[in-house]
Amino acid sequence: MSKKILVTGGLGFIGSHTVVELQNEGFEVVIIDNLSNSSEAVLDGIVAITGKKPIFEKFDLREKKKVQDFFQKHTDITGVIHFAASKAVGESVENPLLYYENNLGVLVYLLQELTQKGEANFIFSSSCTVYGQADELPITEDAPVKPAESPYGNTKQVGEEIIKDTCKVNPQLKAIALRYFNPIGAHASVEIGELPTGVPQNLVPFITQTGIGLREQLSVFGDDYPTNDGTCIRDYIHVVDLAKAHVAALQRLITEKNDTNYEIFNLGTGKGSSVLEVINSFEKVSGEKLNYRIAPRREGDVIQAYADTRRANEVLGWKAKSSLDEAMSSAWQWEKKVRSK
Ligand code: UD1
Repeated sequence: MSKKILVTGGLGFIGSHTVVELQNEGFEVVIIDNLSNSSEAVLDGIVAITGKKPIFEKFDLREKKKVQDFFQKHTDITGVIHFAASKAVGESVENPLLYYENNLGVLVYLLQELTQKGEANFIFSSSCTVYGQADELPITEDAPVKPAESPYGNTKQVGEEIIKDTCKVNPQLKAIALRYFNPIGAHASVEIGELPTGVPQNLVPFITQTGIGLREQLSVFGDDYPTNDGTCIRDYIHVVDLAKAHVAALQRLITEKNDTNYEIFNLGTGKGSSVLEVINSFEKVSGEKLNYRIAPRREGDVIQAYADTRRANEVLGWKAKSSLDEAMSSAWQWEKKVRSK
């Protein structure tokens, strides 16, 4: 019998790509999503790729009673991958309680259900933002967690603490926190991709929207950093590679290969790219000239962040395969498709 996995936020950017990989591996998927930053049409994309329609329940996980009812109805859930969360740094500064409720309140509700259930496998979406500006590069999982720059960043740190403390007293709960570096790109089929609402805050959707003419100009936030070309460095990982890592992490828990019942993995490529290198890659793969200007630094930006991926490579048996050019090319194909509709 195929195993049933709950994917919260399964219609979002990383969630939808993970649902595809889970279904490709034979898992049965149930999605909970409130469509706050996604749309039901994403289900069609998932069906187009996999030929299978996941079960979809539309509700807001802040409604605790609905979460309880869900687990009473679906008693056969083998694992939970928890993506549903808010992720805009600026908005979290404006409205911290929304972030604490959405990102931490909901996490508590889910863990309450899972600890009552007995055996449970839980994968948490964390972020390299927990490292802040790391003192040593590449960043290993043992690098210290630095004070968060925003309520959003704080929810990832505290979220990890909540899971760790819960695992300590609940040996039947097995959890993995995945610290993502910078996910970009879209599925090669161009059936699913990133769909930011409003003005994108992240670099790559801003680039592709500028390329397509939806935005006038990209502002490069600072070119006087102590890096090769003066712009900030990040580890951009293809979202399909990232999605596959979730399946590997889940399999590790299901097959009881985990060493402890709470583990942490970095998910990145291990390679740092500057903002100008990302722009160059875009221009190369799209054949378009990008309109950009150098602007002042953005508050809160770290100078450089890229992953030491050895733990994920060796322990999960997973490795990011796609290059920056491949990821940028898929992001561009997706942008063209979305705008041609
Ligand atoms: C940002 C958040 C981080 C969050 C992540 C979620 C900040 C400071 N950090 O990470 O907490 O986990 O998004 O996806 O907001 N850039 C430009 N022009 C733009 C946009 C970005 O030059 O219009 C540059 C940034 O300065 C940075 C790089 O592009 O150097 C990547 O930016 P972004 O995509 O926002 O990711 P992070 O800053 O890594």
